[in-house]
Amino acid sequence: MAKRKLVAGNWKMNPPTLGKAEALARAVVEATRGDAAVDVLVIPPAPFLGAVGAALHGSAVALGAQNLHPDRGGAYTGEVAGSMLHDLGVRYVLCGHSERRQLFGESPALVGAKVAAAHRDRLVPILCVGETLDERDQGVTDTVVLGQLEQGLAGLDTAVIAETVIAYEPVWAIGTGRNATPEQAQAVHRVIRDWLRRQVGDLADELRVLYGGSVKPANAAELMAEPDIDGALVGGASLEAAGFGAIVRAAG
Ligand code: PGA
Repeated sequence: MAKRKLVAGNWKMNPPTLGKAEALARAVVEATRGDAAVDVLVIPPAPFLGAVGAALHGSAVALGAQNLHPDRGGAYTGEVAGSMLHDLGVRYVLCGHSERRQLFGESPALVGAKVAAAHRDRLVPILCVGETLDERDQGVTDTVVLGQLEQGLAGLDTAVIAETVIAYEPVWAIGTGRNATPEQAQAVHRVIRDWLRRQVGDLADELRVLYGGSVKPANAAELMAEPDIDGALVGGASLEAAGFGAIVRAAG
């Protein structure tokens, strides 16, 4: 069976109100209706997960969360456990987004613990990896990305690794309007795929490796036409339903 592309909208800390989040969810359902060949996912802020899940009910759009704590429960003020997300109907969870790594000090080991916890709690982790502009300029992109993969997937069985989604997001392309060129992105996706093949053999072909970083309707098709780009993780452009729908169609 051919692998289905996945297009995910990471809303980050937007929109500001519940009403707007519900309206955006309903608009995304409308804008993506009929695109049955592509898996579609929205990732709203945690307080809106329940209501957005209700707005998506009966549609083909899945629900994701932006973060989780690795433990099942306990004295962790402000944190959310994977089992809580699962009970709300969440199916995917971002792990190690560069904003979490950079702004909130998430270490590679913590990201790995989150990936393992997501699997334990029956969520599909989307492990985000990517180099900074400095690292790209120093020529260490592949080393950085493979190091993040190695630590993010540490200790997982082959079959579990195969059920993980990877998102390659060059940090210099996130929220900057400056996307990687399809050739630049494909080159790193190929390195990721080859590394995965060394871990899980031919299951590497089943794994979805998304590209993220300034994906928009104008560049989505050419990025996703690359052989190792299996979908997109969309930030800013996912807050506008018509444009997000256009990106989903570009994947189909
Ligand atoms: P962007 O964000 O599309 O706004 O660049 C992507 C992301 O952070 O996932």
